[in-house]
Amino acid sequence: MLTQDQLKREVAKKALEYVPDNAIIGVGTGSTVNLFIEELATIKGRVKGAVSSSNASTERLKAHGIPVYDLNTVDELPVYIDGADEINHYLHMLKGGGGALTREKIVAAAADQYICIADEKKYVEMLGEFPLPIEVVPMARSFVARALVRLGGHPELREGFVTDNGNIILDVHGLKIAKPVELEETLNQIAGVVTNGLFAKRRADVLLLGRQNGVDVLK
Ligand code: 5RP
Repeated sequence: MLTQDQLKREVAKKALEYVPDNAIIGVGTGSTVNLFIEELATIKGRVKGAVSSSNASTERLKAHGIPVYDLNTVDELPVYIDGADEINHYLHMLKGGGGALTREKIVAAAADQYICIADEKKYVEMLGEFPLPIEVVPMARSFVARALVRLGGHPELREGFVTDNGNIILDVHGLKIAKPVELEETLNQIAGVVTNGLFAKRRADVLLLGRQNGVDVLK
């Protein structure tokens, strides 16, 4: 029986097959991506570099000798490789457990293909069991929280956490997300919300799902 960490390692290895030669690739954030960065370091001679979605990943990439580029200086990003907290059969994702959702959404939007790397625990019928992270401008905290309660959620401030962009995170419990695209759009309309953790409008293109009997490739 493989552990969750071993499944993460398997998908991290598999993701190397999606890294084009001599390209700059987008790199996400989280424990699965940390393993991917270690794997990427083994083939670093054939990549030009990475655009990173967080300060944490930037430090790790640099520590492995992988050049990190500012997104503003990059014209083409063929792939973005990142994890998810939950992913459904339509490859809609719930993300932001690590608090890097805003930069993740930006880099994902700029990339041609999103390759999601996840272990089988993340694959769900319906999104929302994992609390939905929302990055909020600090002065709008209470206003946004009240709007989230009206939508049926139970927002909770992520204590002692400041995002790379200087904002706070509200983790919203109790949402059964039957219509991820619609909810993503609704949340984007609330003044003070910087980014919500639904990645449904820009879903994954490929899911590498780590299972006990191997890595499934779902599209
Ligand atoms: C960070 C994220 C991560 O992709 C998500 O939290 C999954 O992380 P892990 O690989 O550690 O389970 O969205 O903001």
